[in-house]
Amino acid sequence: MTETLLKSPPQPELLLRVAERVGTPTYVYFADVIRERIRLLRERTARIDARLLYAMKANGHPAVLSIMKEENLGIDAVSPAELLLALRVGFDPDRILFSANNMTDDEMEFAHRQGVLLNVGELSRLERYGRAHPGSRVCVRVNPRIGAGHHDHVITAGPDSKFGIPVEAAAEILRIVERHGLRLVGLHQHIGSGIMDTGTLWSAIRVILEAAKHFPPVEFINLGGGLGVPYRPGEAGLDFENFDTRVVEPLDEFLTGDASRPAVWFEPGRFLTAECGVLLVRVNTVKANPERTFAGVDSGMTHLLRPALYGSYHAVSNLSNPDGDPVPYDIVGNICETGDRFARDRAVQEIREGDVLAILDTGAYGMSMASPSYNLRPVPAEVLVPGESDPGRFRVIGRRQTAAELVADVLGRAESRRD
Ligand SMILES: Cc1ncc(COP(=O)(O)O)c(C=O)c1O
Repeated sequence: MTETLLKSPPQPELLLRVAERVGTPTYVYFADVIRERIRLLRERTARIDARLLYAMKANGHPAVLSIMKEENLGIDAVSPAELLLALRVGFDPDRILFSANNMTDDEMEFAHRQGVLLNVGELSRLERYGRAHPGSRVCVRVNPRIGAGHHDHVITAGPDSKFGIPVEAAAEILRIVERHGLRLVGLHQHIGSGIMDTGTLWSAIRVILEAAKHFPPVEFINLGGGLGVPYRPGEAGLDFENFDTRVVEPLDEFLTGDASRPAVWFEPGRFLTAECGVLLVRVNTVKANPERTFAGVDSGMTHLLRPALYGSYHAVSNLSNPDGDPVPYDIVGNICETGDRFARDRAVQEIREGDVLAILDTGAYGMSMASPSYNLRPVPAEVLVPGESDPGRFRVIGRRQTAAELVADVLGRAESRRD
């Protein structure tokens, strides 16, 4: 059935100006939205004085990272390159948690040498780290055996998940920690992404809080990210009243009863950046077959993978015809895959060839999942709207690569060299 509710894009005139001046496809990020989400989360966790890290995998653009740094957040980095980028942007090593999974010895060594705290989610890796660096500070990622998320692929705890050390293995963790004189300073969990159900969140938090009693006092408990955002028109956002009474209050109570009172950390990605972003695309082709009408655009799943990977919903708005009557379309990309579809049977203001569409809420896991490799399509340009600090202006923060430059990259990497 066609959905007819529409969601409004932020600052449509400015977005159209970006499309004209910078071209399409282009990701646009509104800095004020990021700052507002940080403020909101800080306000809602003030009672427990939570420390916020930003999961940079959601959107690792240096300009976005700089905002996080200005706002005094730390970083959750999951690969050596993410770690290196965070350091280059200016984050202090002691503000970064390195949470790669299935780390290699070299990756552990690299992170250790940077003076960054490692978050280890496998017993064998903990053993190796202890052997290589006895006496080091370390954080351990546990699997609380409860997972949640908007799609199976993003549930990162529970019986089917590769992440973390099962919470039942506390004794084994302790044995390794003691054997190598490691200092277990933190416990971590991240149960999944796109979670709206605060009840599940609390159930998992209870597990790690109980588990913490089996360890000597830790400095912090990191509860991961995962807070969901509303993607559909009319969908309610995270219920913060519920979050307060079902997560923050009980957490506070629990910690008040703990003489060592560890600090609480959260490491959101999506919550801080999803709603700051819009992907601007241009319609090249409108064509109808007997069953449906396709609007073909100059972008595709290699720019925004979430619809193809998870069946995710992103609202679409026709910036060029905002008052047009809603008509159902399949909005499809230019990649040679039938699954390359941004929206199926979706009501959008009538679309003409040449129109500019805004694909909303694409600031998280949009550009960070983009790749020019498949079908050799350069990734979108990127634009930042500074907002209050520079009203009405925008700045190109990611230059559009040409086809010739992309081919030069491919040929450059393919150059064979003698050993
Ligand atoms: C360890 C860890 N922390 C935090 C996050 C951020 O999740 P979200 O963007 O849902 O907040 C992820 C996402 O995969 C993660 O793997």
